[in-house]
Amino acid sequence: MILVTGGAGFIGSNFVLGWLAHHDEPVINLDALTYAGNLRNLSSLQGDTRHRFVRGDITDRALVDGLLAEHRPRAIVHFAAESHVDRSIHGPLAFIKTNVDGTYTLLEAARAFWQALPADEKAGFRFHHVSTDEVYGSLRPGDPAFTESHPYEPNSPYSASKAASDHLVRAWHHTYGLPVVTTNCSNNYGPYHFPEKLIPLMIVNALAGKPLPVYGDGQQIRDWLYVTDHCSAIRAVLARGRLGETYNIGGWNEKPNIEIVHTICALLDELRPHAEGSYQRLVTYVADRPGHDRRYAIDARKIERELGWRPAETFETGIRKTVQWYLDHADWVADVQSGGYREWVDRNYAQR
Ligand code: NAD
Ligand code: DAU
Repeated sequence: MILVTGGAGFIGSNFVLGWLAHHDEPVINLDALTYAGNLRNLSSLQGDTRHRFVRGDITDRALVDGLLAEHRPRAIVHFAAESHVDRSIHGPLAFIKTNVDGTYTLLEAARAFWQALPADEKAGFRFHHVSTDEVYGSLRPGDPAFTESHPYEPNSPYSASKAASDHLVRAWHHTYGLPVVTTNCSNNYGPYHFPEKLIPLMIVNALAGKPLPVYGDGQQIRDWLYVTDHCSAIRAVLARGRLGETYNIGGWNEKPNIEIVHTICALLDELRPHAEGSYQRLVTYVADRPGHDRRYAIDARKIERELGWRPAETFETGIRKTVQWYLDHADWVADVQSGGYREWVDRNYAQR
């Protein structure tokens, strides 16, 4: 079996659902169920004995030791993190605790477990660290896309905490020989994406007739990847990635934010037209994010060359599926928009 951390969040839940659709190998899913974790994402697995959910914190060493001893997983796939840049600006401590201390705790527990394994199991064990392109910092127009050897230049508390975790993972491989692989992925989108992030926020705000808050001039560029493509890349790296290597994952889909917002408005105009006219009327420019990275772009040639991975979705197919998913899952959106969510929206957007 495999141990997944953060498997009730956006990418983690898509990964668990995809894993069990492709394999019969069971999953232990360790997740603290912060505001970003939602068991409803996994409701289709109710009664499926291949999935065992454990509510707990990755900083809890005794809990992690106990899970490893009881279930003896052949791999750990580590998604659990605080993931939202804006939240990291308002409150960085949670990012240090989970992303740095939590990754350290998992590495130490994995090291103790792995060192005691018999030789054949030891050779097959994997610690797969799921990370982000934000560790590389910001590109200027015309700069080549991030390769795996790009220097680390994180600019936000979030990306700094993820960079720290990447360095710990690297060091545990070089110093202790722990069999690790790391993936650095670009911006994901798709089902179960929490509506604090750009794409789901724009969809749910538009449907509610609320402003669509575009930071700064809206010309910041991100490289968008449909979430199930990220999950298939992780499966490929876990199965065939070289030990100690990092692999960049991206969709070859660089787009300025304002273009994303216009695309969402156009799709909603087609799929759920509004009596008052186009959703474009809701676009509102607001104050920029402090330290806002201008451009990310991933060079994903290494994973294609070594493992034959390429994304299956184009941006056009992925964004249409995503908008349709949110139209079909109004109950999921209502469920995650709890009191805590409303407080966050008030705090983040009130002063802009
Ligand atoms: P998310 O915020 O949607 O989910 C994070 C999950 O981790 C939640 O279920 C939460 O409950 C859980 N969690 C948080 N702190 C925990 C703790 N201390 N112990 C146990 N569980 C805890 O995040 P996501 O967008 O699904 O991102 C998953 C991973 O992928 C993160 O490591 C993130 O850095 C990375 N990543 C995300 C993106 C993206 O576009 N979303 C892109 C590249 C990499
Ligand atoms: O690049 C990978 C990263 O992508 C992941 O590591 C992070 O976990 C994930 O949250 C995401 O980070 P971003 O900061 O790029 O995503 P976010 O959706 O918050 O913002 C995307 C862009 O949209 C960014 O330039 C800021 C802008 N934005 C965002 C929000 C929430 C707006 O213009 N308005 C908004 O209301």
